[in-house]
Amino acid sequence: MLDQPRMTLNAISLFSSAGIGDLAFQRLPVRVLVSCELLEDRHQVYQANFPDTHALTGDIWKLWPQIVSETHARLDGGALDILFATPPCQGMSKNGRGKLLQAVRNGSKPALDVRNRLIIPTLKVAQSLKPRLIVLENVPEMENTLIMSEGGRLVPILDLVREELGPEYDGEARVVEFADYGVPQRRQRLITVFTRDAAMLSLFKRRRSLHPRPTHSQNGGGKPPWVTVRDVISHMPPLDAGSPDTARGDDALHFVPLLDEDKYFWVRHTPPEKGAFDNQCVACGHDKNPCHGNFRDEGGINRASRETPLHCLKCGTLLPRPWVRNKETGAHRLMRGYTSAYKRMSWDLPASALTTNLAYACSDNKLHPEQHRVLSLREALMLHTITDFEYRFERADGKKVTSGLIYEIIGESIPPRGLEVFFREWTDVLRGGADVVMKGDWAASDLPLFHNSMAQLAKSA
Ligand SMILES: C[S@@+](CC[C@H](N)C(=O)[O-])C[C@H]1O[C@@H](n2cnc3c(N)ncnc32)[C@H](O)[C@@H]1O
Repeated sequence: MLDQPRMTLNAISLFSSAGIGDLAFQRLPVRVLVSCELLEDRHQVYQANFPDTHALTGDIWKLWPQIVSETHARLDGGALDILFATPPCQGMSKNGRGKLLQAVRNGSKPALDVRNRLIIPTLKVAQSLKPRLIVLENVPEMENTLIMSEGGRLVPILDLVREELGPEYDGEARVVEFADYGVPQRRQRLITVFTRDAAMLSLFKRRRSLHPRPTHSQNGGGKPPWVTVRDVISHMPPLDAGSPDTARGDDALHFVPLLDEDKYFWVRHTPPEKGAFDNQCVACGHDKNPCHGNFRDEGGINRASRETPLHCLKCGTLLPRPWVRNKETGAHRLMRGYTSAYKRMSWDLPASALTTNLAYACSDNKLHPEQHRVLSLREALMLHTITDFEYRFERADGKKVTSGLIYEIIGESIPPRGLEVFFREWTDVLRGGADVVMKGDWAASDLPLFHNSMAQLAKSA
């Protein structure tokens, strides 16, 4: 009786923030029964957009028993179909798993980030509610991350997931490029899926993957090409960050922060496809001044070049490159920074990942492809695909939502258009069986994967 197919599926959402990820359910037959988020500001925006969801605001370590009881109350004896959890990623490591394990074991790296242990209460919720499908979204580094289990064991996070879920569940984790799923933005994420549902398990066995086939491709292959910045924002009214009159359009969200005189000078002289660190002389027109570069130091660490000139090698004039001015002497030196700082996005590629720093010209690849500014908030919402959905930046308590909060909400979420592709396929299977999506017999090897991080764990592969 519990797992009978139903028209509408029941989900819960953990680490929900303002619900950008949950927009993936908006056009699907899924209702989110309960959400949990630590930060009041973010969850207020969630509640304005998902008024029918029971929102629990606070620390999941304390709230997990209540998440379970509130979900049970709302399921009214039925089964939970989907647990969707997007724990924070700030504590995840870029180091290789083996190297890190060795470093922690030999004592050279003692500190384990407590934020990574948020998977533990997540698994307690999963064990208590036994959802048919568990979906975890995180940065690719999650696969290299070690945590201290409750029993005091140092264990790779994904191994713990499999162990705690037990043999009833099977699944996999794969690094996904969201541009391959129609999102006009490069964003790589580790999507981990575990299931105990018979149809999902059958799909996994037959196809050797639970991840849907990409809808778009960088290099053709019969698929539509990646959606580009040009496709999405080239029609937007021009803006210019040089003055208050030109930095704002008629639409309240189409505005950009002003650039001070120095930054505006660097940005104004940055050609398409380039970064300000490579700008050439605006006085004599000499265009052979060496570009900025990176090198690896003795320890193998990537460093910005210290040789890059700030004055034109031909006429000696200050180049429009990011500088720091000594307040006492007035002397300039090149700002420390990488070539990706003060760099323009390309018109004909997806945008670079929109981070919480998207309003800062100095952050990686954040300049408009040709105008003298960063992206407007409206353009960011379009490139993050939030504008595909019904969504309002309002709070349930009626207070004002600041632009700073909106930048945070965008930067910490994944573009819902891409996630919807995943959940559409999974909800089809959960409601109608594996045959619904087995159109043509394709296997995991068809996926343009970086790798299957859980190949060694995936029992069915
Ligand atoms: C990566 S973001 C989630 C993004 C979200 N799914 C979305 O679509 O916008 C992680 C969220 O976890 C929240 N968080 C961090 N620690 C938490 C805790 N102890 N309990 C509950 N939520 C927590 C953060 O405040 C943050 O909003």
